[in-house]
Amino acid sequence: MTVLHTVSELRQWRHDAPAPVVLVPTMGALHTGHLELVREAGRLAGAGGRVAVSLFVNPLQFGPNEDLDRYPRTLEADLAGCREAGADLVFAPPLEEMYHPDRSIQIIESALSKILCGASRPGHFDGVCTVVAKLFNLFQPHAAVFGKKDFQQLAIVRRLVRDLDFPVDVHGIETVREPDGLALSSRNRYLSDAERAQAPALRAGLLRARAAWVEGISGTANLRAIVSEHLAAQAPLARVDYIEVVDAATLETLPVARQDQHSLIAAAVFFGGARLIDNIELEP
Ligand code: PAJ
Repeated sequence: MTVLHTVSELRQWRHDAPAPVVLVPTMGALHTGHLELVREAGRLAGAGGRVAVSLFVNPLQFGPNEDLDRYPRTLEADLAGCREAGADLVFAPPLEEMYHPDRSIQIIESALSKILCGASRPGHFDGVCTVVAKLFNLFQPHAAVFGKKDFQQLAIVRRLVRDLDFPVDVHGIETVREPDGLALSSRNRYLSDAERAQAPALRAGLLRARAAWVEGISGTANLRAIVSEHLAAQAPLARVDYIEVVDAATLETLPVARQDQHSLIAAAVFFGGARLIDNIELEP
């Protein structure tokens, strides 16, 4: 596995790499969920292609009161995980390789980023779009792999690819979970023991709501109430940010979750300072 830190080395690597090149963008602090993305990239790249992982904590996507400074940095463990999961290349640039001090151009997303997580994180998805566009330009990947846990990010990256004509196939991967259902996240480490014990209620509430939808309950006010009542009963330490039922592609909020429409129930809850997100698909 090759490890590179500079843009010029990366360009040379890319120039020599056999197709297809499959990229997994990350911010490091890798857990089993990230490594599942790397393994999926390996399946997509096949025997002849190359799997590339980027590790870069992107300051543009952190708000002024967010956890940029305390975001975990675990380079050695990340490299070991990438090697184990079959990556061919890891690109771990320092800040100055990615951003010029006087940079003055960035990408602005003006619709999908205003709702859901974007409502409480202004500028976050513009920062994601800017760094993902830069990574797509640097790696020129044939495909890129993202997690469905961050469903809004996935929808926005698909929109970025569509609207700016990146020739990249975007693949979404199922959320990898702890045995009790909690979605793996680098932010789970911020949970106290009591919060950690209650956190699986988020997944459990979403499963209940989906079961009700399968039984024929389609009014989204009812579906949302099932999640919030479950959280109120099982996770008193949780503070709900949002629970919404949205179209999977447009993220439009739905009054009714039709049985023939691909939608999802998405939720974000605070446990103390940690904000956890999860979602469940309602598939025709
Ligand atoms: P990061 O939070 O490091 O996540 C990297 C990728 O891993 C994302 O596509 C995310 O959806 C996926 N992921 C996280 N937890 C997962 C889980 N439990 N199961 C499956 N996949 C999971 O998302 C980012 O970084 C950044 O915004 C980035 C796209 C790298 C741009 O900076």
